[in-house]
Parts: sequence; C-alpha cells; structure tokens
Amino acid sequence: MGVIGIIGAMEEEVSCLKEKMTEVSVTRKASMDFYEGLLEGKKAVVVRSGIGKVNAAVCAQILADDFKAEAIINTGIAGSLNNDINIGDIVLSTDVLYHDMDATGFGYPKCQIPQMEEFSFPANVRMRREALLVCREVNPEIQVFEGRIASGDQFVSDKALKDEIIKNTGAFACEMEGAAIGHTAYLNHIPFLIIRAISDKADGSASMDYAEFEAKAIEHSVRLTQGLLARLG
Ligand code: ADE
Repeated sequence: MGVIGIIGAMEEEVSCLKEKMTEVSVTRKASMDFYEGLLEGKKAVVVRSGIGKVNAAVCAQILADDFKAEAIINTGIAGSLNNDINIGDIVLSTDVLYHDMDATGFGYPKCQIPQMEEFSFPANVRMRREALLVCREVNPEIQVFEGRIASGDQFVSDKALKDEIIKNTGAFACEMEGAAIGHTAYLNHIPFLIIRAISDKADGSASMDYAEFEAKAIEHSVRLTQGLLARLG
C-alpha cells in the first residue's frame, strides 16, 4: 500500500501518532500541518484537520491531491447513540452520513444529499475487518462495534436531538467530521475507515469526568490506529 493519510480533528487525537513517526517532514497547507514520514514502517501523513465538516473535507482533499493518499483513516472520539455502546468503546464505520443534511423541503428523505444517489458513504470492508481484529488484540478490555456513524456541525448534547438523529439515521455514534472525510474519499475513489472511541452519551449527561473519559477514549482510538497501520499493506 502507498501513503496512508491519518486525520484527527483535535491535536490530542494525533499528537501521539506524530511523536511516533520517523523521517518526518512537515508541509503546511490550508492552515494545516501535514506530517509526512514513517509510522509502523508504513508511509503515512498525519494531520490535525480542525473541527467540523469543512475542515475535514479540505484536509482529506489535500491528502488526495498533494500526498496521493491511497487510504484514509480518521481517528477520534464520538458520542454514543446506542445504549449498549459505553464510554471508551470503539465504533468502526460501516458507512457515514450527514445527520444535519436536510432537503426535506424538496421531498428528499432527511440526511439525503440532493441529486446524489448515495444515502451514505461506505467504508472499506478490508480496513474494517482488519481494524476489528486489531482492536480485539490491542484493546481487549473494551467492546468494539461496527455501525453507521453520523456527522454534523453540532456537538450533540441534547436528548431530543440525539433521539432525532437515531430515528433518522440508525447510527451508532455521532461526531463532526467522519462523513465529510468519507464523502471526500468516496469522490476520489480512496478507501477509508472512521475509527471513533466513545467519550460521552451525546445527551448532556457528560459530567466533571469528561476530560478523563476523553483522554481514555483517545488512547483507545490511537492504539487501534497504530495497530491497524502495522497490519495494512
Ligand atoms: N465528539 C465527541 N462527542 C461528541 C458529541 N456528543 N457530538 C458531536 N461530536 C462529538
């Protein structure tokens, strides 16, 4: 496999991976620093995109155009949309969509992008399968799920909004970048996988312990991303 692009929205989600890279060179574009080098012996580009769909899409397109990424992994945290999925657990994307896409006024179902055939963008099956195996090896103490991930430019912390997203999408987790990365990868014919560890229940119940949960979740997601890289190619 050629270059693997790894995107995290926040610095905490990628700093560990950057530290583990060798033969690093940094290129700045669109206000983002792209760390190019070797990770687990594989050619990789690790980058913090910033939060939200536009940052994520711009970042993924640069990985495609300037770095010729042959696969894209998005590592990070998410809110759980399923009672069985606990804080710290991992969700691997089967597919991704925008929970805030709304052209219902034109007769489209909620979440459907007008004039596009796809309702959601499918993740790469091989990357998913490998990630599932690796996750059980490197994070044996947590559960790993495969399911739909819904993205939107909203931090979901309200029970009514959470329930609405579940009703419209059937997603297992919500976050703010995965669908934009999957969409961009899809348009460029690049296989992708979204790896998200659960940091909260997306219902406003996040407590004083949120920072601790977030750190633990990031640890799980980073450990899996690193393990997956070792296995790919
Ligand atoms: N990332 C982590 N938790 C989230 C939430 N509840 N909503 C959106 N993005 C998130």
